[in-house]
Amino acid sequence: MKDLFEKIYKDKGPLGKWASQAEGYFVFPKLEGPISNRMKFQGKDVITWSINDYLGLANHPEVRKVDAQAAADYGSAYPMGARMMSGHTDLHEQLQNELASFVSKEAAYLLNFGYQGMVSTIDALVSKDDIIVYDVDAHACIIDGVRLHMGKRFTYKHNDVESLEKNLERATKMAEQTGGGILVISEGVFGMRGEQGRLKEIVTLKKKFNFRLFVDDAHGFGTLGATGAGAGEEQGVQDDIDVYFATFAKSLASTGAFIAGDKEIIDYLKYNLRSQMFAKSLQMQLVVGALKRLEMLKTMPELKAKLWENVNALQSGLKERGFDIGTTQSCVTPVYLKGSIPEAMALVRDLRENHGIFCSIVVYPVIPKGLILLRLIPTSSHTLQDVEETLAAFEAIRERLENGTYKRLSASVMAAMGES
Ligand SMILES: Cc1ncc(COP(=O)(O)O)c(C=O)c1O
Repeated sequence: MKDLFEKIYKDKGPLGKWASQAEGYFVFPKLEGPISNRMKFQGKDVITWSINDYLGLANHPEVRKVDAQAAADYGSAYPMGARMMSGHTDLHEQLQNELASFVSKEAAYLLNFGYQGMVSTIDALVSKDDIIVYDVDAHACIIDGVRLHMGKRFTYKHNDVESLEKNLERATKMAEQTGGGILVISEGVFGMRGEQGRLKEIVTLKKKFNFRLFVDDAHGFGTLGATGAGAGEEQGVQDDIDVYFATFAKSLASTGAFIAGDKEIIDYLKYNLRSQMFAKSLQMQLVVGALKRLEMLKTMPELKAKLWENVNALQSGLKERGFDIGTTQSCVTPVYLKGSIPEAMALVRDLRENHGIFCSIVVYPVIPKGLILLRLIPTSSHTLQDVEETLAAFEAIRERLENGTYKRLSASVMAAMGES
């Protein structure tokens, strides 16, 4: 019989096989210093384009003050126990009410983490007779939530409403047999490529099909819509989103998340969300901190305005210089280049060491083989000077990619790995 660990010793997986070259630098890097537009990486100053602190709240003095006071007042334990048992407080309720009203829903419920909360919400919304139809490029938390589902599921082509419609036809036929309903799941903004989910067109399909819509708006919340209420507000369809989700891990620069919807739906989820029923309540520091951040999001529109000034400068600068930034419709700024994984490593090293630019790099299997995706996340704490320096650096690295410099530099890496 095989040892269970045999596969682990033999195959580290598509990303894990690069660990000895990548760890500490390309993956698990340590960014140091206060979270801001410029931080330190391995002792060097870098412009950071890899942190989802969209509104620059992470290190805002008012936020830091409230966080510190909350820690002094409550410590990091309070309240103890799950919400249902002993972990419920007035401030949890207040935060829920304020979040619900901000995203124009009747009620909201707090989640300890976005990822777990999404998984658990999907699990709670469907039973085995129901059918899930979801975007094939969905975030891992959606994929993993769907994995728990005991019934049928269909994927539709990424952001392709025609494909969604075809799958809804199949799902409708199937639901008629099983006696179940249909849950459609999309992201408000797809975090890798930056396109908005086509929510407006998706909700139009409600006229033809009977389904409920669940939207993960992790990247839309705080960045899109007139008030910052997200992709639903931006597209004028917030009312048609049946269950709305956002995390505190991006615009609110913290930890935690929430779902919002009709009171009856949220009441149901309150009693059926296993991630909240069987886990400790969100700690008070985070609740108090989120109340402060939400207040700032609502009362300081200049934060979002500055964010978009930077987004527009970066995206138009890249386009003017002929870079392929795909079809982003959000702050997420992907730059697609052609090259192998070793070339990508040499390129990123050059960006960090010689240009002081720190951005995330995404390669196969997250995106197709032969493509390098550099992902830039502008925030309101960036400056136009940061944008200028970055644009100049990108022009330089593109030239070196095209003239084969990175291929040569990476040859030694390839040889060391025994790859061709
Ligand atoms: C689209 C999306 N959904 C959910 C999550 C998970 O949120 P959290 O970090 O709060 O677990 C993320 C990443 O943070 C995300 O990008």
